[in-house]
Amino acid sequence: MVREKSYRFEVISDVHIDLENNGKKIYFVYAEKNFRRALEIAKKRNCDFIVNVGDSVTNATGAKAEWQRYREIINESGYGGMIFEAMGNHETRFVKYGGCTIEEAHREFIDGTRLKEKPVNRIAGKTYYAYTDQTFGDAFLFLSLENGVSTNEIDNFTDEQMDWAEEQLERFYHEGRRVFLIQHAPIVRFGVGDDIMEPAYGGSIRMTSQNGSAFLNNQRFLRLVKQYKDTIWLSGHTHVDLRDEVNYSNENENACHMIHVPSVAGTTRLSRDKNGKRVLDRSFYENASQGYIAEVFEDRAVFTGINIFDDRLYPQYQYIIRK
Ligand SMILES: [Fe+2]
Ligand SMILES: [Fe+2]
Repeated sequence: MVREKSYRFEVISDVHIDLENNGKKIYFVYAEKNFRRALEIAKKRNCDFIVNVGDSVTNATGAKAEWQRYREIINESGYGGMIFEAMGNHETRFVKYGGCTIEEAHREFIDGTRLKEKPVNRIAGKTYYAYTDQTFGDAFLFLSLENGVSTNEIDNFTDEQMDWAEEQLERFYHEGRRVFLIQHAPIVRFGVGDDIMEPAYGGSIRMTSQNGSAFLNNQRFLRLVKQYKDTIWLSGHTHVDLRDEVNYSNENENACHMIHVPSVAGTTRLSRDKNGKRVLDRSFYENASQGYIAEVFEDRAVFTGINIFDDRLYPQYQYIIRK
């Protein structure tokens, strides 16, 4: 029997290497251990590459040492394959505290991820890029929260990035390619990663500011995910656990396939406070570390949830997306 042609990648998000105050006050306590486990799993399961949906660092007091730790863990793990990272909001967090400029944070991301050494299509100095897989010619578009950390308060993409994304998507569809869109932050009350009727997380992308003025590039992003319905959009950011079942949506066929990727560092749980209000439980448990193994065949992509702590697959959280 001929084996069906396929390729495989691991999907992780919100690794959150955390060296706040030089290691004295660590918030994401299991980040390093579970990132190492994720890399070992990718090696053991023969993944062709890893897709990392962003927030690789935590960056309360500068990201340089955290990026260094990120690289050390990769080197120590024995995983020799490629990792493609999207830029999340934490990558630029130090800008908010006046610790560096946005350009410096972008450079740290480019250096920390070794982006220049990867076989990707990119514009010099930019944090968004495209990768084409060698098996089927599938396109992976890595978008970037280019404008900084306060995801819920700003227009998150530059005009230039959205021009680029629109042009790429149009071309890929014209060429008949399958497209994976990797963009860290979900949209409030839309899709995946939160209770969309009663959101627990305040940090998702919005279409307008508090005073009602339009975030035009966020709106362009929303148009793309509504227009190109065959696209598979992978997001992270809320850290919400697979067990809360806000993992997949296509908004009743009004949008593309959206899959939310929980956090490697420690998942959050949709919960309620004593007044019944929706909140996120941010308690950390070492064994609450999750991602996906994606197996891509000619006619379908199969995403199966995985517990990164014990390398166990969750057959109940499997999403099959037909081409
Ligand atoms: Fe995060
Ligand atoms: Fe985030």
